[in-house]
Amino acid sequence: MNVLVTGGAGFIGRWVVARLLRDGASVLVLDDLSNGREENLRELEGHAGFLGLVRGDLKDAGLLAELFAARRFDRVFHLGASIHVQRSIDDPEPTFRNDAEGTFRVLEACRAEYFARNGLDASKKQFDHDRDVARVSDRSPRVVVMSTCMVYDLAAGGAIPETHPYRPASPYAAAKIASDVLALSYFHAYGMPVTVVRPFNTYGPFQKSNSEGGVVSIFLKRDICGEPLLVKGTGTQTRDLLYVEDCADFVVGAAESASVEGEIVNAGTGHDISVRDLAGLVRGANNSVEHVPHDHPQAEIPKLLCDARKAKRLLGWEPKVPLEEGLRRTRSWLEENRWAW
Ligand SMILES: NC(=O)c1ccc[n+]([C@@H]2O[C@H](COP(=O)([O-])OP(=O)(O)OC[C@H]3O[C@@H](n4cnc5c(N)ncnc54)[C@H](O)[C@@H]3O)[C@@H](O)[C@H]2O)c1
Repeated sequence: MNVLVTGGAGFIGRWVVARLLRDGASVLVLDDLSNGREENLRELEGHAGFLGLVRGDLKDAGLLAELFAARRFDRVFHLGASIHVQRSIDDPEPTFRNDAEGTFRVLEACRAEYFARNGLDASKKQFDHDRDVARVSDRSPRVVVMSTCMVYDLAAGGAIPETHPYRPASPYAAAKIASDVLALSYFHAYGMPVTVVRPFNTYGPFQKSNSEGGVVSIFLKRDICGEPLLVKGTGTQTRDLLYVEDCADFVVGAAESASVEGEIVNAGTGHDISVRDLAGLVRGANNSVEHVPHDHPQAEIPKLLCDARKAKRLLGWEPKVPLEEGLRRTRSWLEENRWAW
C-alpha cells in the first residue's frame, strides 16, 4: 500500500508515519520543513517501507502530479498546515494559503488519481453524479484530512460533539473550517472516500517546546530547566489532552473504514483539565507557577472537552494512554533529546 503523508515531518505527522510503517505500508512524506524537522524522521529512515521525505510545498500542483504519477497513492493523510493561532492573527495570508488553498491542491491531486483509477474523464464538462459514481470500482485513494478542535464555538460546559456550532475565532480556525467543508464536498460531489478528522489538543514526544510548541511540552521543558511555568490569563481555560500515539492510531484508523466516508470525526479523551491544574501537575516540588497576560484572548476557547463517542461507535477507537503516563513519556523524551529544544 502506497501512502502519502503531507506534513509528515511535523509533530503528529511523524507519529502517523511511524504507525503506517509498523502496519507495513510504503510511506512518502511531503513537507516543506516550515515547521517540521528532518530529525523527526531520523529513527524511521532505515525502515524498508520509508520512501523518503520530499521537501516541497503541498500547494505545488505540478509537484503533487509528479508524486502521484510515480506512486499511485492508495491512501493520503493530509496533515500539512500552518498551525499557529497567533501568527494567523498577525498575518493571515500564509495560513489561508497553506490550510485552505493547500487542502484544495491536495484534494485535486487525489481527484485526478481517483478519476484515473476508475476510467472517469477529468476533462469532461458535465460530471454526472449518479452515472459516474456508479462506475467507481476502486474506492481510492482514501483521503484523511486533518482538522482541529479549534474550529468549535464555546460549549456551555458539556463535551463537544461533531455537530457543535463553529466559531472562526482566528484565521487559523477559519482556514481549517474552509478546508473541512471543501474536503466533504469531494465526497458529496464525486463520491470520493474522504474523511475529516478532528483531534483535540495533542501532546507528546517530538512536539516543539519553544514558544511555538504545545502547552504540555512548553511546561515540561521549563520545569526541567527549573524555570517558572507561565500560565496565560486566568488559567481556567481547559484542554482535552490527547497523547500523540493515540492520535496517530485514530488518524490511521480513519482511512480503514467505509463508515466514516463523508464524515467528520472527533478524537479526545473525554476528560479536560484546566491549564492552571496542568501546570500544578507538571510543576516539580521546587518550581513555581506564574500568571502572564494572554497574547490572543479573543481566540481563546474557555472549555475544550471532546465528545468522542462517534469515533468509538464507527471506528472502535478509544484512547489508551492516561494523562499522567503521557506526561511521564513526554518528560523523559525531552530530557533525553535536548536537540529538540
Ligand atoms: N498539535 C495539535 O494539538 C493539533 C490538534 C488538532 C489538529 N492538529 C492538526 O494536525 C496537523 C499537524 O499538526 P502538528 O501539531 O503536527 O503541527 P506541525 O507544524 O508540527 O506539522 C505540520 C507540518 O506541515 C508542514 N507544512 C506546513 N505548510 C506546508 C506546506 N505548504 N507544504 C508542505 N508542508 C507544510 C510543516 O513543516 C509541519 O511539518 C495540522 O493540520 C494541525 O492543524 C494539531
